[in-house]
Amino acid sequence: MRRARIALFPGSFDPFTNGHLDLARRASALFDRVVIAVAYNSAKVSLFTPEERVEMIEESVRGLRGASAMKFSGLLVDCARRIRAQAIIRGLRAVSDFEFEFQMALMNRRLAPRLEIAFLMPSQEFTYLNSTLVKEVARHGGRVSGLVPAGVERRLRARFARTGGKWASTK
Ligand code: PNS
Repeated sequence: MRRARIALFPGSFDPFTNGHLDLARRASALFDRVVIAVAYNSAKVSLFTPEERVEMIEESVRGLRGASAMKFSGLLVDCARRIRAQAIIRGLRAVSDFEFEFQMALMNRRLAPRLEIAFLMPSQEFTYLNSTLVKEVARHGGRVSGLVPAGVERRLRARFARTGGKWASTK
């Protein structure tokens, strides 16, 4: 029997956007399983807890064949080893993403030479989109529908209504 092809799609996903969803869809067409892994780092301030981010991703990818979500801490390559992933998925939106991604890919390759790193391009309509911009717009009461899945939009609204636009720092 053929070994299942498993891809690990890591990120901060604070929050998961429609650009991330677009990449997850593309990855799911190429791999049997796509594990979307939320990195948590207690030194980094984030809007949503890792558990909230995993929940939002699970909601967003419901119905997407082979897709699931989890959180991880520590090295990405160790997480990939644990779940037996053959590849890491990263998105490239523009040339500006390339330098950091290239460095990270080479470091990961040094740490785990047999792990492939696959770069996918999101649909053109999402090339300007990132989680920081989405938070900024939502924080000031702007519309983010069409930029994030409906469940994420709901939680952003609730989070900023509760904090009156202030950053709710969670780890
Ligand atoms: O969405 P992001 O913030 O661009 O994702 C970056 C992420 C989480 C993929 C990266 O910081 C990471 O892999 N962190 C885990 C720690 C690690 O393995 N660092 C070495 C990578 S070279």
